[in-house]
Amino acid sequence: MDDRAIGVFDSGLGGLTAVKQLMAQLPHERIVYFGDTGRVPYGTRSVETVIKYVMQDIRFLMQFDLKMIVVACGTASAIALDTAKASFDLPIIGVVEWAAKQAVHVNRNGKIGVIGTQGTIASDAYARNIKAVEPKRQVLSIACPLFVPLVENGYLDHAATAMIVAEYLQPLKDARVDTLILGCTHYPLLKKVIAQFMGDDVHLIDPGVAIATHVHTILQQQDMLSVTNISPTFRYFVSDSVENFARLGSVFLQRPILELVEKVDIERF
Ligand code: DGL
Repeated sequence: MDDRAIGVFDSGLGGLTAVKQLMAQLPHERIVYFGDTGRVPYGTRSVETVIKYVMQDIRFLMQFDLKMIVVACGTASAIALDTAKASFDLPIIGVVEWAAKQAVHVNRNGKIGVIGTQGTIASDAYARNIKAVEPKRQVLSIACPLFVPLVENGYLDHAATAMIVAEYLQPLKDARVDTLILGCTHYPLLKKVIAQFMGDDVHLIDPGVAIATHVHTILQQQDMLSVTNISPTFRYFVSDSVENFARLGSVFLQRPILELVEKVDIERF
C-alpha cells in the first residue's frame, strides 16, 4: 500500500486525457498535475528545448511526495524520457512505450500507423518501441501539426477537421494499416472523425488508456496501490492562466476544478 500521489505532466491541457483515464481506472489515487500552458506547444520545438522544459517540469513535481511520474505528453515522452529517467530517482513512465506495446498486441496484419506532433514523429520513438517488441512490424508514421490547433479551438467534429483528417491520413488508409496510434495527447479528442475516415476495421490506440492500464498493473504488482484515499485529492498547476485551464479542464474532466488550480513560475525550477 502506498498513499503517495502520482505526478502527471504535459505541455498543457491535453494531458488531462491521461488523467481522466487514471481517475477512471484508479479511483483511490491522489494526482498532482502540471500543465505547461505558458510554453505549449512542445511538438514544434527543438530536442534541446523539450529536454530543458521536461527537466524543469519534473523538478517542479519533485517537490511533492510522489510514488511515480507519468509523462502524459507524447512529445516529451518521445524526446526526453531517457534523459529524465537517468536524472531522477523515482519511477518515470511515458506514454510511448505502453501505447506501442498495446498496438503490437492488437495488430493483426503487420502494419501499424503512428500519428503525432512533428517532434514525436521526427524522434522515431514509436517505431523504435514497436520494433523492440516485434521487429517485423511495418510502421508508417505521419506528423499531423494541424490537429492540435483544431482541438484547442474546439473543432472536434467539424467539416474542416474531416477534410484535414483525410488529407493527413490518406497514405495510412492506402497502406491498409489495421492499427493506428493516436500519438499525441490531443488526438483522442478527434477519435470520432478519425474513426469515420479510417473505418471500423482499424483499431485506434489511445495512449492515455494504455498508460492508465499500465500504471494500474505496476501499482498492483508492486503492492503500491493506494487503499486509504477514499476521496483522493487532485491538484493542478499551470504556467499560464488558471481560469482558462480551469474552464476547459472542468468541461473536459466533467468536474469543477477551479478551486484546485494554481499558477507556478516554472522558470524557477
Ligand atoms: N502534448 C503534446 C503531445 O502530446 C501536444 C501539444 C504540444 O505540441 O505540446 O505531443
